[in-house]
Amino acid sequence: MIDNWTKSREYLERAKRSLAGGVSSPFRAKAPVPLYFRNGCGARLEDVDGNEYIDYVLAWGPMILGYRHPAILEAMRRQAELPADYGAQHELEFLVSEQIQKLMPCAELTAFTSSGSEACQIAFRLARAFTGRDVILKFEGHYHGWMDGALISYKPTAGHVGALEHPNCVTGSRGQTRNSVENFVVAPWNHIDLLARIVDANRNRIAAVVMEPVLCNSGCILPHAGYLEQVRELCNASGILLIFDEVITGFRLSLSGAQQFYHVIPDIATFGKAVGGGAPLSGVAGRREILMQMFDGGVAFGGSFNGNSVSMASSHATLMELDRNGGAALAHANAMGRQLMDGIRQIASRKNVPIVVSGFGAAFAIHFTEKTGLADYRDTLEDNSGRLQQFLYRALEQGLHILPDGRMYVSAAHTPRDIEETLARLDTVFSGLP
Ligand SMILES: Cc1ncc(COP(=O)(O)O)c(C=O)c1O
Repeated sequence: MIDNWTKSREYLERAKRSLAGGVSSPFRAKAPVPLYFRNGCGARLEDVDGNEYIDYVLAWGPMILGYRHPAILEAMRRQAELPADYGAQHELEFLVSEQIQKLMPCAELTAFTSSGSEACQIAFRLARAFTGRDVILKFEGHYHGWMDGALISYKPTAGHVGALEHPNCVTGSRGQTRNSVENFVVAPWNHIDLLARIVDANRNRIAAVVMEPVLCNSGCILPHAGYLEQVRELCNASGILLIFDEVITGFRLSLSGAQQFYHVIPDIATFGKAVGGGAPLSGVAGRREILMQMFDGGVAFGGSFNGNSVSMASSHATLMELDRNGGAALAHANAMGRQLMDGIRQIASRKNVPIVVSGFGAAFAIHFTEKTGLADYRDTLEDNSGRLQQFLYRALEQGLHILPDGRMYVSAAHTPRDIEETLARLDTVFSGLP
């Protein structure tokens, strides 16, 4: 059997001798072959063996405009000639926060940090300080970063989830402080009646309800019609803040994220990934009096790299490109993605492979399942993971780079030709599935 990835495998072995696991995030070790890349442009990546891929990973989301976008390259290059970091104020910080204020309905004010995990941490702290309550209600299967105070009931096994009416609150890692669970209540997503009961049972304890408004980290599942509005009303009625974690949906589902797309405005939103266009940047946006607690309400916040000038330059260029022509770039990414979703459904149906393709154009996931639709995390527990592994391996052989959970991100750089070529290759992949 020909191995297309001899150099990547060699590099992995070498890297393992000095770099823990040979990769910079254990999530990346889950790929069928952890590839080493040497270049990329637009929607294409090239690995160290010289294989070219049509890429649907987008570096796990940030590369919304594709690789080496000229405007981002130019902005970063210009900034790289200047100090890379000041640890103090500079013009790009407020230029970018003004762009976010213009684009994100909830953003009366914004604060920047470097990763989505940090953004969620400060969002939870602000909510607790504002309400004087300790508990965050989160949903099963939703991801808000890897910190002790956030990694709760992210991927509990079928044996650990507990009753649907009262899901268990489960830590996600060995070494995580066990009492992290005491600050959380977990609910199943997309079930408004169950949520209302859980909120009622925890009356006056819950500071905030946090969710991915589209459940991207567990299969790109959409909210039921009216669900987000109902959650908003429930929060209003109970003095609970609503936090949308828009680290994936922000600047992707629409220019203004899920809050604009679904017309439900949270009190706080976190964002990351796409906002930096590939440079490390994240942030929190929301109501003025909530964010101002960092300055007049005793809420601590910091970060050596907050407002890093190269990240800000990249973000400024990214947001300008996304905002151009009434948001044409994202409209294109989403249209390309929808075309791909439809094409994949048609191929699978022709080959009699039962699948569900869920999500929106620019982010969606393929589920190998007998189910006809998915409403929450528990529905994904029946996915055939063995078949997904075979699919991913064959897709990689065909030059298609897809996330290890079957998720696919589509960028503004994907062309109709990329989509056509991808579907032709997927036809071969599906034919080869046992
Ligand atoms: C919805 C969501 N929130 C938070 C995070 C954490 O972001 P980061 O990996 O930048 O820390 C992620 C990362 O995938 C995410 O998808």
